[in-house]
Amino acid sequence: MFTANYDLKKHNTFGVSVKARWFAAFGSTETLKNLLSEAKSIPLPLFILGGGSNILLTKNLDAVVLKNEIKGITVEPTDDPNSFLVTAGAGEIWHSFVQFCVENGLHGIENLSLIPGSVGAAPMQNIGAYGVEIKDTFYSLKALNISSLSEEVFSADDCKFGYRESVFKRALKGKYIITSVTFLLKKQAELSLHYGSIKDELANLGIENPSLKEVSQAIINIRNSKLPNPAELGNSGSFFKNPVVSAQKRNQLLAEYPNLVSYQVNESEYKLAAGWLIEQSGLKGYTAGNCGVHKKQALVLVNYGGATGNEILQLSNLVQNTVKEKFGVELEKEVNII
Ligand code: EPU
Repeated sequence: MFTANYDLKKHNTFGVSVKARWFAAFGSTETLKNLLSEAKSIPLPLFILGGGSNILLTKNLDAVVLKNEIKGITVEPTDDPNSFLVTAGAGEIWHSFVQFCVENGLHGIENLSLIPGSVGAAPMQNIGAYGVEIKDTFYSLKALNISSLSEEVFSADDCKFGYRESVFKRALKGKYIITSVTFLLKKQAELSLHYGSIKDELANLGIENPSLKEVSQAIINIRNSKLPNPAELGNSGSFFKNPVVSAQKRNQLLAEYPNLVSYQVNESEYKLAAGWLIEQSGLKGYTAGNCGVHKKQALVLVNYGGATGNEILQLSNLVQNTVKEKFGVELEKEVNII
């Protein structure tokens, strides 16, 4: 069942080549349970891989790597004729799932079109884009408890969602394997168009009253114009989170940099656009060996081919240090460094 010394290059969107000591894929919860029982005799830690779109692998993994390939999508009616419970296997490709929903007229996750990764990874960091996060339509998920091998159901509250955060990145890290995720989606709903660039793109396309499909297409166009396709250029989306600073710090920066991009989070805090900070630090398009800061979106680090995880990690440290020196702002990595 397990393959030894398996190259993970095609299983991480940075396209970094590192070896897993042991590797196996699972397509059902039953197979997963069997693999976990077998793995008990191997004295190495477990590492669960989804779409590999939010990790930077910096070394060979002396671990038992299990790749989630649980597929399947089901749609169930609810008491409300407008609402449906849509469940996807954790190993479904996120964008294929979004396309399924859009094709079937199910509203709620269209703004999350084209985000790389798997369905099971989506709740781990509450993926978000263009004014929508999965917590907005999330209903529940099932996850296998690694020590008891029993499947448990988590509600949205149980998941403790935050900005690119959930309990699975914190208190329950490494304790559960997500097997399926259920969303509450609507046949008729208002489209979420308040994000500036969506309006601009729809205007570009000459569309006034967009359909669900047209919104999804607009998002795809925006992402394609700024974000590199991991199949062509290794990357992991935003490498850093947008930092949250005090209103005082934001006002102080604004006085010095009138073009500062910031959004109010609450009465006393603002979120700053990390991409703007990096660009203003002179690093947009900067290259270091085989990797660099993306030319069109400074929040994204890219592998031009053959970069090691450590090269990319060093580049990310340079970005953090440069931004800290210029603006006095700490950038936090969004990508998991392994
Ligand atoms: N900006 C720059 N220079 C850059 C990049 C951005 O000045 O190189 C400015 C833009 O002009 C804009 C602002 O920063 O005024 C925000 O840029 P953008 O709309 O591209 O979004 P972002 O804040 O950089 C976040 C998410 C993305 C998501 C977009 C759209 C995070 C860490 N990133 O990026 O998520 O697609 O908003 O909603 O919150 C991801 O998490 O992997 C990801 C791609």
